[in-house]
Amino acid sequence: MQLFNSWYAIAFSSEVEQNKPTSAVIHGQRLALWRTSNGDVIATQDRCPHKGASLSSGTVDCDRLICGYHGWRFKADGHCDLIPAQTSTGSLPRRAQLHQLPCQESQGFVWVWWSKEGLTLPGDAEPSPLPDVGPLPTAGDSGWRVLEGQVDWKAHYLRVLEAFSDLTHAPFVHSGSFGAMAPDQLLPEEHWSTEESVYERVLAPRDKKYRADQGRGLRSWFNLDSSAKREESDDGGVQHIQLWLANISLVRVVFGDFQISLLTAHVPIAEGLTRNLWRHYRSFLKTPLADGNARGRVDRFMAEDQRMVETLVPVTPDLDGRGDLLLGSDVSTINLRKLLREKRSKGQLV
Ligand code: FES
Ligand SMILES: [Fe+2]
Repeated sequence: MQLFNSWYAIAFSSEVEQNKPTSAVIHGQRLALWRTSNGDVIATQDRCPHKGASLSSGTVDCDRLICGYHGWRFKADGHCDLIPAQTSTGSLPRRAQLHQLPCQESQGFVWVWWSKEGLTLPGDAEPSPLPDVGPLPTAGDSGWRVLEGQVDWKAHYLRVLEAFSDLTHAPFVHSGSFGAMAPDQLLPEEHWSTEESVYERVLAPRDKKYRADQGRGLRSWFNLDSSAKREESDDGGVQHIQLWLANISLVRVVFGDFQISLLTAHVPIAEGLTRNLWRHYRSFLKTPLADGNARGRVDRFMAEDQRMVETLVPVTPDLDGRGDLLLGSDVSTINLRKLLREKRSKGQLV
């Protein structure tokens, strides 16, 4: 099941270096990503039209992507402008041309426009604007520390997307990590959806069973920052959970002045394989010395989710509600599936 006519975040911007191509995959289609000297990222077929070598293992020089096999050289618009073995003839075949996907960068990710046409000649596709994902700190904001990581799950990316807006699993799946402080009842205070996005806000009152000195949970982590002036109260945090089609989730947890956000691109590598590319933002403990702890926490709760999400049947979400019994506390799942049914009726979800 694929959503067409949509932007997908497929790689970290940091992966696409200035002088070296890299690869990415979307719905089984392998791409080569490379960066021009003015900073633009190009997403092109990862197959050289000469004899099929992988272009992502080639090189980049003087604003050209160069195949490592026989040195064919391609411009940013996909046209080949040099075939070293043929220079004497002067003419270049028309088919020496790479097809591409429209490509942009935003929020630390490389995004590509995925339509039924697939890879096309540059200029042939007409993408919509990128989704307005946020709020998030701007790049280089010294008030935040940012970390990146990734993990592959054997699950359909829409199942994974659902899992990131599914709050009521926290006390059970995450009982060994941040879920230790979550109450069993997590009905959203507010929820809404648009044509491309699903949102809910949840108050997470402090669980009376939970003690701040227990050494687990988000609050205990916040307490590590002894230099901070923070009013102690029994009020808990607020969680904002939002999804954007095709494949982005943002979970923001706000405890007064302390904020922690997790922005994740759930990249559909193949029908039952999702690569989760995550960016963690924290407004406290900004020293790099705390990165190991932060990474360990994200890895741990991701592994907790993975164990459960990989067991879900059917592999794709039950959009017509024949098998699942969804209730009011599943509001974001209900809203997401409604949105996906609308896409399906327009022929955009196949
Ligand atoms: S296969 Fe790429 S130049 Fe020959
Ligand atoms: Fe989870």
